[in-house]
Amino acid sequence: MSSLSRSRAFLAATLLLAGTLTVMTRAAGGRASQTLEVAVGQPGAPIPSTLYGIFFEDINFGADGGLYPERVKNRSFEFPESLMGWQKAVPAGGTFEVRTDDPVGPRNPHYLRITSEDGAHPFGVRNDGFRGIGVEQGGHYTISVVARRRTGDAATLRFDLQDTSGTTSSASATIALTGSTWASYSAPFVATRTEARGRLAVYVDGAGAIDVDVVSLYPDDTFNHRKNGLRADLVQLLKDMHPGFIRFPGGCIVEGRYLDGRYRWKETIGEVSDRRLIVNRWNNEFVDKPAPDYYQSFGLGFYEYFLLAEDLGASPLPILNCGMACQFNSSELAPMDQLEPYIQDALDLIEFANGPVTSTWGKKRADLGHPAPFNMKLLGVGNEQWGPQYIERFAVFQKRLKAAHPEVRLVSSADPFTDRENFKTQWAKLRELNADLVDEHFYRPPAWFFQNATRYDSYPRTGPHIFAGEYAAHTKPVGSGESRNVWEAALAEAAWMTGLERNADLVDMSSYAPLFGHVDAWQWSPNLIWFDNLRSFGTPNYYVQQMFGANRGTRLLTVKADGAILSGQHDLFATASLDEPAGEVIVKIVNSADAEVPLKVVLPGVKDGNARVTVLTAEPMAENSLTAPTAVSPAESPAPVSGSAIERTVPKHSLTVIRVKKG
Ligand code: AHR
Repeated sequence: MSSLSRSRAFLAATLLLAGTLTVMTRAAGGRASQTLEVAVGQPGAPIPSTLYGIFFEDINFGADGGLYPERVKNRSFEFPESLMGWQKAVPAGGTFEVRTDDPVGPRNPHYLRITSEDGAHPFGVRNDGFRGIGVEQGGHYTISVVARRRTGDAATLRFDLQDTSGTTSSASATIALTGSTWASYSAPFVATRTEARGRLAVYVDGAGAIDVDVVSLYPDDTFNHRKNGLRADLVQLLKDMHPGFIRFPGGCIVEGRYLDGRYRWKETIGEVSDRRLIVNRWNNEFVDKPAPDYYQSFGLGFYEYFLLAEDLGASPLPILNCGMACQFNSSELAPMDQLEPYIQDALDLIEFANGPVTSTWGKKRADLGHPAPFNMKLLGVGNEQWGPQYIERFAVFQKRLKAAHPEVRLVSSADPFTDRENFKTQWAKLRELNADLVDEHFYRPPAWFFQNATRYDSYPRTGPHIFAGEYAAHTKPVGSGESRNVWEAALAEAAWMTGLERNADLVDMSSYAPLFGHVDAWQWSPNLIWFDNLRSFGTPNYYVQQMFGANRGTRLLTVKADGAILSGQHDLFATASLDEPAGEVIVKIVNSADAEVPLKVVLPGVKDGNARVTVLTAEPMAENSLTAPTAVSPAESPAPVSGSAIERTVPKHSLTVIRVKKG
């Protein structure tokens, strides 16, 4: 299938997922006062610590060019087009060529030879970065390179961070080479001015040739100052969500268009320069959003994902290929009698994450610097798979993995088309198999989320638990790229999340999708967090996730209005919980109407004093941006508790979270 028709197939499929578009319009005008009764004295089911989490997929330049803060694109010249991202830094005075004779190593076969003809006029190349290279004034970076002298007097490399025109330099470093065999060199690099879309030039000083490979410009200031660490502002945004888990690395990239292009976790650990790059599945998925320079260098690999989970205090949930390529693409299958390598990958991953340092894979983890286990308790078998092909493969995985590791809970895939017959059939089979967790995905219009806040109220309470693993309200057709992160969508998600929380006896986990989008290099919209080379911001949807994540609670409480559980009546959605360690009651209220509502929230047993009230509200089409990153963001204020009740008017189109000491 051509790339165009593949992309159309994906769009058609996702349009089917989207259903009918509806815009949030609700009656304006004065609203009658409502009384909400919170059963403070009758704590219900425990709320899993994993209820609100995050799903990271390498889409929209989320890894290379995003969370993985390497500034140099194609640093090892291993892209299929070896010089992609590189060009001459000066018009004349030398040559450059990609070579493969006597490389740095067998897993890194290409390198660049730069020859300068005239010692008085250095010749060099420059790298475009990921839609430019960003450096901050005063920021500390490290330049590193693997290099060797080849011919002539040339023995020094000069690195220059230039603006787009190549005229002004904002940082410079020189590295003197000591010999004619491959060696690693590095130098500090301090930016004297901010450059959002700079270029890194590499010059050969002196007449002669120098070979270079693994050319890197890396910030020193990574999250938790980890070596080969992650972009600090982006991880901080994740941390502020208080995620209970992190699902990684996808998404469709786990499956690959064909099995050959699937994600293989073992290829992503160890020496960074030895990690063999592959094309990113989103490289040309959508013809109108081509990203021919989108590859996975795996600088962010499985070891780094586990460290990230640890830094976030989140439970790691890796997803592995189950012998099926993406069913939106080739649907290629590994024959049933050839599943062994896939199963072994899963067994080895569990050993890598949790095994003793005396085990083969536990030792590899220890050698990488982490002797303590990562305490992985969750593992996903496949991403969005459907049909009998999935069930038969999942059954084999389940049998083998459960026999060896009953302690690891397996996540299985529901059919992503939740309205078709196979969704029910697949669920029934997974129920028969006594699956642990079933992963349901929803990319739907806002109206769907409001209407489906009660979805899980009627699910059976026996059998598999729920992971609402990918969801986002789309105001325009899914896959069109036209949906934006407007407040209307975020509010719909908030209403739906009250339903997730109310059903926390069944719903163990949930996550918005996708997580990241580079403003100049995205394929999919909306996304939770947007960024450019230097800045980032949380969308209104992000602040909804953050408010739920930071105010999860540990035991459910019911919220009633007029004697009935409040789940959408009067355009109001609510959920409540007890935060036992904090000794606080938490109430979350969504008002989806176009009018404010006076509320009395009755909290029997709660003593008079002050509650903390956090409100998130905006006009339906409001959004955040790089220049107005918190235009839609929560505001906190105190509210008096009198006679075990709080009287308060909730604004139109709002999410309100009340926290109050239980007494
Ligand atoms: O989140 C974007 C994509 O949507 C994911 O890769 C896939 O699982 C779903 O189709």
